[in-house]
Amino acid sequence: MIKAIRGMRDLLPPETSRWQWVEQVAREVFGLYGYREIRLPLLERTELFARSIGADTDIVGKEMYSFPDRKGDSLTLRPEATASVLRAVLEKGLDKGAGVKKLYTLGPMFRYERPQKGRYRQFYQINCEAFGVDAPELDAEVILLLLDILARLKLSETRLLINSLGCPECQVKFKAALGLFLISREGLCEDCQRRRETNPLRVLDCKSVHCKEILKDAPVIRDYLCPDCAAHFARVLALLKHFGVAYEEQPRLVRGLDYYSRTAFEVVATGLGAQDAVAGGGRYNGLSQELGGPILPAIGFAIGEDRLLEVLPRDLGQGNEFKVFLAALGEPARDKAFGLLQELRRCNVAAEMDLEGRSLKAQMTLADRFGALYTVILGDRELETGEAMVRRMAEGSQERVALQDLTTLLAARARE
Ligand code: HAM
Repeated sequence: MIKAIRGMRDLLPPETSRWQWVEQVAREVFGLYGYREIRLPLLERTELFARSIGADTDIVGKEMYSFPDRKGDSLTLRPEATASVLRAVLEKGLDKGAGVKKLYTLGPMFRYERPQKGRYRQFYQINCEAFGVDAPELDAEVILLLLDILARLKLSETRLLINSLGCPECQVKFKAALGLFLISREGLCEDCQRRRETNPLRVLDCKSVHCKEILKDAPVIRDYLCPDCAAHFARVLALLKHFGVAYEEQPRLVRGLDYYSRTAFEVVATGLGAQDAVAGGGRYNGLSQELGGPILPAIGFAIGEDRLLEVLPRDLGQGNEFKVFLAALGEPARDKAFGLLQELRRCNVAAEMDLEGRSLKAQMTLADRFGALYTVILGDRELETGEAMVRRMAEGSQERVALQDLTTLLAARARE
């Protein structure tokens, strides 16, 4: 038997109803904040991610699904969406015109990580990106949007972690100080020994307990922010406070991707274990120029849908759908039921029947499994009298309904 690839899951019903519900809520909230959907290819040129995310990151260094296509061009299954969204924005000129441009996208991402709870090789993100405005108000609005989605999904027990990574000038100064601090430290992991030379910021993102211990006394970027970056960050925090958002400043938060500048944030949820970040994002004001585009300030976030669904209550999104089962005995009744089935569906009532001529008892079992609220029982006698027996499954109560009124009655109850 051929099995699914390690780290790549099948999402099955009824679990998929929860996913649909999460996505529907996210789409509604994006609509309220003026975002529109963009749909992108899953494959991009490898160079796009290498240049955006950074050569020293785990994602580019170890986790990309890259392969040559038949012409020998190196392609990569997208490990994230931000680089692709920006590629499309620049390629299609969506950055033109005044004001903020707001886009969202949903879909699978691919990273060759070691699979474990909350970490998959194909996982799903709900992605938000806003372009064209550097004002701290936009940072606050994007964070409020993220929290709005999570609140409507009834996700409680979260913490918002936030930091500022400064602009390139702040980062040059900070990297020099951090590099100096790291040079004399013994016992860094192999990756960090290399990174302290190439990109010391990456050392701050190392997961090794030992490296984390060493970093306890490392300098923090907050002390290296230029006046503009410091004022920007202070304003973002003041706005969050104004809206009653509880946040925790995390002076060592750098995120796993190199493109961030200024505001960076994560939302972590309790109950997720080691992989506790349900969402992460920040500003990436320099990425457009990095990719050969114009100056284009930008900010965004991605929610990890797999992790989000892990912590949301089980029964959410699994509302009691109004469903009707038609139980028919004998060929004439089955023919009638088959017609009624289509009529009900045309009137927006979810309806099902047995197509294999089972006994009444077996059909009632099917009705239960289908989750029917009502079962309509049709036999020779019902056809003769022109009245069907309608059973409310929860109470077992029954009523007789004229066949010609059946669809109208059930459609009306479905709307109640
Ligand atoms: P990221 O932090 O790499 O950021 O990913 C965002 C979220 O995706 C994480 O917080 C986590 O919930 C989820 N995630 C990441 N890797 C996995 C995995 N292997 N399995 C399950 N879930 C995972 C980004 O991707 C940025 N593009 C976010 C962004 C948008 N920044 C600006 N705009």
